[in-house]
Amino acid sequence: MIRVTRRYRFSASHRLHAAAFSDAENRALYGKCNNPYGHGHDYVLEVSVRGPVDRVSGRAVDLDALDRLVRGHVLEPFDHRDLNTEVPAFAGVVPTTENLAVEIRSRLARKWSGAFPDAWPKLERIRIQETKRNTFELHQ
Ligand code: NI
Repeated sequence: MIRVTRRYRFSASHRLHAAAFSDAENRALYGKCNNPYGHGHDYVLEVSVRGPVDRVSGRAVDLDALDRLVRGHVLEPFDHRDLNTEVPAFAGVVPTTENLAVEIRSRLARKWSGAFPDAWPKLERIRIQETKRNTFELHQ
């Protein structure tokens, strides 16, 4: 088995604010990430897939197919957007990078068999670097 990791970039803004909490509780919980007008990140997204090496092509994944899937269902809907107001999935979900990873995995999983109709490759891991200090990983 080979694991292949492809790296993408997108920029987006967000504000961390949970509707269930008061304004004071939100400020205490999220600090400056709760500022009313939000702030941006240059996210680095890594998508890892796993599969056997195809005998004929010598490859484990069709990277063009992966690029089309990620571009169409993640990069285009998210890049240069305000996640809170422009991405419906975050209307009632706090757009932390944890939840961003969950949303990206679910978007890719939903369309996976259309892009990769065979048994392999499988989606294995989503990794998002939000800042130099914060990286979030979601494993299957
Ligand atoms: Ni942030």
